[in-house]
Amino acid sequence: MRVVALVPAAGSGRRLGAGVPKALVPVLGESLLVRAVRGLLNSGMIHHVVVAAPPEAPEEVRAELNPLGPVARVVPGGSDRTESVRLALAEAERVVPDAGAVLVHDAARAFTPVPVIQDVIRAVEGGARAVVPVLPVADTVKQVDSSQRVTATVDRSHLRTVQTPQGFAVDTLRAAYDNAGDAATDDAGLVEQAGETVTTVPGHAHALKITTAFDLAIAETVLAAEPVPEDDLP
Ligand code: CTP
Ligand code: MG
Repeated sequence: MRVVALVPAAGSGRRLGAGVPKALVPVLGESLLVRAVRGLLNSGMIHHVVVAAPPEAPEEVRAELNPLGPVARVVPGGSDRTESVRLALAEAERVVPDAGAVLVHDAARAFTPVPVIQDVIRAVEGGARAVVPVLPVADTVKQVDSSQRVTATVDRSHLRTVQTPQGFAVDTLRAAYDNAGDAATDDAGLVEQAGETVTTVPGHAHALKITTAFDLAIAETVLAAEPVPEDDLP
């Protein structure tokens, strides 16, 4: 089965506040984008990568990916993540019309271990229509009312936080996006709305989304402290 990966990387990184688009922010000398794309390629299971770049910086993003070779196409992204994925999906359908599986992987999850990526792809190859990597919820979760008073303690044994890459049968993601409204927070959510089953594989703490300077500091510390086995991390 041919597999394409879409990498939404068009966000500005307002909460990180680095002064450049978040995907281009370097961590120990390499940008989040290069790390995210290399991780996908290191899975050895992906035929093509399409990156949605900040609309004002497609050339900068192309230059950034140059050292990886002719592996990724770059399209200008949209004004929200949904639009960026939509644009990248259209390009992927042009470039690899016979793809059977598609991954959507945030550039901001640049440290996702390769085995997580491989597990997601294997699940789609095994027949799942939609797959997400998940983690159990560590904190106690409370429900509050509009006055911020606690109304319930939620049973967290059935709760999971969701990471990327999310994997899909191509026609499933296409149908979900055809029926989608303007903005959705995650791609699997669109598939759920379309009534399809979404399955899970184990995620990994290293697949955290870099959102704030604190997250970036954690990533730098982990990378510096744990020389990661070549096969394991991007
Ligand atoms: N993204 C995108 N197109 C957008 C907005 C976001 O491709 N118009 C991408 C980001 O580049 C990121 C992923 O979606 O890889 C998750 O978004 P987020 O972490 O919110 O990144 P930003 O939108 O860049 O950050 P912020 O919300 O702090 O501005
Ligand atoms: Mg955002």
